[in-house]
Amino acid sequence: MKKVLIQNIGMLATPKGTSAHRGEEQGKIEMLKDAWVLIEDGVIAKVGTGKPDAAGAEVIDAGGNLVTPGLVDAHTHLIFGGWRQNELGLKLHGASYLDIQNAGGGIQSTTNATRTATEEELAAKAEDALNEMLRFGTTTCEAKSGYGLATEHELKELRVIRDLNERHPIDLVATFMGAHLVPAEYKQNRDEYVRLVCEEMMPLVKEQGIAKFCDVFCEADTFTAEESRRILEAGLKYGLRPKIHADEIEAIGGSVLAGEIGAISAEHLIVCPPEGIASMAKGGVIACLLPATSFNLGAVFAPARDMVKAGVPVAMATDFNPGSCPCLNMQFVINLGCLKYKLTPEEVLTAVTLNGAAAIDMADKVGSVEAGKQGDLVIWNAPDLDYICYRVGSNLVKTVVKKGVVV
Ligand code: NIG
Ligand code: FE
Repeated sequence: MKKVLIQNIGMLATPKGTSAHRGEEQGKIEMLKDAWVLIEDGVIAKVGTGKPDAAGAEVIDAGGNLVTPGLVDAHTHLIFGGWRQNELGLKLHGASYLDIQNAGGGIQSTTNATRTATEEELAAKAEDALNEMLRFGTTTCEAKSGYGLATEHELKELRVIRDLNERHPIDLVATFMGAHLVPAEYKQNRDEYVRLVCEEMMPLVKEQGIAKFCDVFCEADTFTAEESRRILEAGLKYGLRPKIHADEIEAIGGSVLAGEIGAISAEHLIVCPPEGIASMAKGGVIACLLPATSFNLGAVFAPARDMVKAGVPVAMATDFNPGSCPCLNMQFVINLGCLKYKLTPEEVLTAVTLNGAAAIDMADKVGSVEAGKQGDLVIWNAPDLDYICYRVGSNLVKTVVKKGVVV
């Protein structure tokens, strides 16, 4: 058995449990001073304080620093061809996200670049991003398809995710998002595209076992709430749990639908109305908030405090993608969680660890530092939790440990 002991931890900060924390519980964190963590064969065996028994263990010295669970990025569009830096100038001249999308830019232009890329090219590019994420402290990551928008290319994206999961230290969880946009060739026949997603793509996704969730972009000029319901209900038939991009730009009913359909999570929620919050609370939906997208779109920030107050568990993730959020840094998300959502450092830590894990159905394995969970943790160049929430623009990660191995 391989034993690894992380000792000399100045402060261990972690939520505890195997399900999402809501309301007051979201801010309850265990803080242990002078702590140690023993990992056996990649799994946390024991957590304690004071003098550890180091017999037979490889020792990692945390140097008196802060240790937290590895960060969980529960929402990314990791697999894409090209970038979209050309849109910056358009934005600076006043074009909105939907203006650019409606003019054939946006998701469609990334789709064109993704369709012409080979599996190897997409994997190499995504692997670079994963390496960077790991250096910023992310140890588990959700990744969506959605830039193929044709059966062959959606499946290609999902295969890239599956293969990267096998060879990269970051654990990847795949989401099928064939309903990211109605592609140009179906613009006059959107019903046919929805049918294709539900009747051709989904059966193949299920047969190949390459996605766990189904997501849809429920938005003005994209997919209506009725189409989104049809798509998510079809996904359920194929064993894909629903997720939904809701209320990102306009509130057209996405968050209400999330609650009604019992989605595991609803994403963005920038302009989520009170009835959406109520529906999510009733349906047990996790709000997966993406503050770096608000930042990049120059938009307002989601009403996170209202969600905590209403008993909706809040997770936070990057939304890494080439358009609305070319940012993969969870530390920036942490900063924005405090400064823009007015969440406390404790609530933020839960959002980027345990609640993120719950939003991708991984909370039994990751998201906290306690016996039985995977040995995924971050040793920070920081004395305490407040420090990583308050310092902006530096990478404060000292060491990342994944399944008990320094990576
Ligand atoms: O979450 N909103 C839809 N999807 C992404 C953006 C995708 C893109 O612009 O390429 C998002 O913001
Ligand atoms: Fe997204």
